[in-house]
Amino acid sequence: MKALTLRRPDDWHVHLRDGAALAAVAPFTAARFARAIVMPNLNPPVATTAAALAYRTRIRAALPAALQFEPLMTLYLTDGTPVEEISRAKAAGGVLGCKLYPAGATTHSDAGVRDVRRLDAVFEHMAETGLVLQVHGEVTDPAVDIFEREARFIDTVLEPLAARHPRLRIVLEHISTRAAVDFVLGARAGVAATVTPQHLLMNRNALFAGGLRPHHYCLPVLKAEQDRAAVLAAVLRGSPRLFLGTDSAPHARAAKETACGCAGIFSAHAGIELYAEVFAAAGALEKLEPFASHYGADFYGLPRNAGTITLVPEPWEVPPEYPFGSAPLVPLRAGECIAWRLEP
Ligand code: DOR
Ligand code: ZN
Repeated sequence: MKALTLRRPDDWHVHLRDGAALAAVAPFTAARFARAIVMPNLNPPVATTAAALAYRTRIRAALPAALQFEPLMTLYLTDGTPVEEISRAKAAGGVLGCKLYPAGATTHSDAGVRDVRRLDAVFEHMAETGLVLQVHGEVTDPAVDIFEREARFIDTVLEPLAARHPRLRIVLEHISTRAAVDFVLGARAGVAATVTPQHLLMNRNALFAGGLRPHHYCLPVLKAEQDRAAVLAAVLRGSPRLFLGTDSAPHARAAKETACGCAGIFSAHAGIELYAEVFAAAGALEKLEPFASHYGADFYGLPRNAGTITLVPEPWEVPPEYPFGSAPLVPLRAGECIAWRLEP
């Protein structure tokens, strides 16, 4: 196999955290991607335009100017988000959308939304102003099987929401099931999805391979092989509705390797290389560039990037850990090989 040069990609879903953690992880994303939508689930959440712009300033300050990276912001919706916040976000620019976390669904989602119906006026104004709704698509009812939560959310929350707001553009984030693929590909115009490397590369067996594997635990949790295969097949067929979003979500080693570990897989150290592995293994490398560099920009109405990156098929060993502020983190594939390397 030979080197692959592609238009510089974007990461449409990433967690960069804040403070020393931000400084530790942001360079990985900025080395590969020209732009990224930075998730707002800080503590406290990034729930206002002012907070998003201040966060953007901190992200820029954490990076060497030479890296030329543009953080794209999204607001954390709460039950109390006022309609005027949407107008402020639109007027400010640089805030592309709002993130819907059902309360309790995942890391730092306690301040999230308990009843989406209460936000209908907000969604309506988002549709009018062109802000995109980014959705963590899982129900939070503890009685619902964890492997069913995405499908249940689509049926009971997302499909009705998309129908109530026919002009609202929606991204169902980190899809993990055949049900999500079927929903997104069959939905009205203006509905799309991001896909992570872990949901393409692994099924739920990876959580229990020879013992409990906390570094493979994320939300939505990895699913059965049929679901992984369905997501992969749809991505390989190629659809402008399916694009790259790593959901790289760093946590300190100690927060993962504990009795009640955090959800999140750190993949930013190989945020494009892991996808190259997936597409190369399927003999479909030519489909990587549209997935990574075209479809997301087109959906968000942004220009495709001008520069390029080059990937070479040279395996490299991922270090056992990376620094992460005051404590190390364990990256995806720690101590193992990744088949593609980013040319510096
Ligand atoms: O695995 C996850 N980690 N899923 C999420 O939705 C949040 C993320 C995080 O922030 O750690
Ligand atoms: Zn996420």
